[in-house]
Amino acid sequence: MEMEALAVFGGSPCALSSSLLRSPTADRNGCRLSYTSSHKLILRTTHHNHLSAFQTQSHLFSNYPSRPHAHKNTHKSHIFLPHLVASTEEVEETYIMVKPDGVQRGLVGEIISRFEKKGFKLTGLKLFQCPKELAEEHYKDLKSKSFFTKLIDYITSGPVVCMAWEGIGVVASARKLIGATNPLQAEPGTIRGDLAVQTGRNVVHGSDSPENGKREIALWFKEDEVCQWTPAQAPWLRE
Ligand code: RTP
Ligand code: MG
Repeated sequence: MEMEALAVFGGSPCALSSSLLRSPTADRNGCRLSYTSSHKLILRTTHHNHLSAFQTQSHLFSNYPSRPHAHKNTHKSHIFLPHLVASTEEVEETYIMVKPDGVQRGLVGEIISRFEKKGFKLTGLKLFQCPKELAEEHYKDLKSKSFFTKLIDYITSGPVVCMAWEGIGVVASARKLIGATNPLQAEPGTIRGDLAVQTGRNVVHGSDSPENGKREIALWFKEDEVCQWTPAQAPWLRE
């Protein structure tokens, strides 16, 4: 099915990755960008798949330093650009985890509730003491980071609540509901913006791509722990 996604940027189009903006007509993913007379930036794709089929996920992120004045070892906070995928019709899966601080602080119900209220479907849920090896596998892309050991100690410091959620554009939408990695930079209304103050105690995890959503659900859940069901409210959520 041919798909057309419209992304409107009120501010500077610099919010888009430079690789997309560099080519005003077409990029290697078959996407076309054009400006309308009202200066709206339009992204068109003829992909048969959803926009997250971009070969590199870097198209979907903008980076900015969480500590703008720090020159060395500056950690980049990733802000997902959910408006790029939120208009798709593709059902995705994401792995959401209430981290040990969220469990200890009694935030499990509050966090689950945010995803439930949004309209996503819970397909897996368990309280779990994460072994070190699993935490290391889950965060393997961050192995070279200076904070890796601290991160593994944090994730294994107490039980976590593992969740699998399903829905249209759920990966990007969940990242938006969760907010920026550094809670001080997370917008009010997001989970981290409302409930946390430090990057190293940011209460919740969310997969950063549909591919990682699948990978992480397979990592944290056995096949028979994930439940397929049809919520009664489904016709009230999807046209
Ligand atoms: P997550 O994977 O947990 O959802 O978090 P994220 O995508 O927002 O951020 P990511 O870069 O994947 O980092 C994973 C987790 O590592 C901890 N962290 N600590 N001390 C530091 O500079 C630092 N940077 C990251 C955070 O707990 C972060 O969520
Ligand atoms: Mg991450």
